[in-house]
Amino acid sequence: MTVLNATVGDITTQNVDAIVNAANTRMRGGGGVDGAIHRAAGPSLLEECIARFPNGLETGKAGWTHGFNLPARFVIHTPGPNYRAGQTDQRLLESSYRNCLAVADELGVDSIAFPLISAGVYGWPKEDAVKIAVDTLSNTPTQVSQIRIVTLDAHIQSTVQELLTRYA
Ligand code: APR
Repeated sequence: MTVLNATVGDITTQNVDAIVNAANTRMRGGGGVDGAIHRAAGPSLLEECIARFPNGLETGKAGWTHGFNLPARFVIHTPGPNYRAGQTDQRLLESSYRNCLAVADELGVDSIAFPLISAGVYGWPKEDAVKIAVDTLSNTPTQVSQIRIVTLDAHIQSTVQELLTRYA
């Protein structure tokens, strides 16, 4: 049985087995969630990204590294679609969520925290980003027992929670 809930907070401080990074295809760090995770994890994270993703990672795919100085044991990285650059096919965003859960299942992860992928720098309209996150995570079979959607914004959190109760 998988429990989904929404939390206001910083994804880097979440005490879960894995946190998801809203990465880019270069996989060498960046701003937003990506920057916060690299800062909190420490320089070993970039070293492992270079080693495990020498050619980066395709949009919508997912791959893992260790969490190093983070509370989370693993970071599951996924480059979401860049809406601002014209990547508006929602199947790409859905596959980011779905592939992160597939990697979590490979790792035997029991609890995972997701940010709202593509909803920041990549400019996906927030309401739609929330809907796609909740739809996809509610309908993807997984062994993960606890899924958290983490956002810095209390208004967005209540929108997520409201949608989740509709799915419950
Ligand atoms: N904890 C939780 N949520 C966060 C945090 C944080 N520390 N920092 C930002 N967010 C929220 C943003 O407000 C947004 O709603 O996460 C969502 C995703 O925002 P971004 O991090 O900008 O990710 P994205 O829109 O997918 O853009 C990815 O931005 O940071 C660069 O290297 C990254 O090029 C990539 C692109």
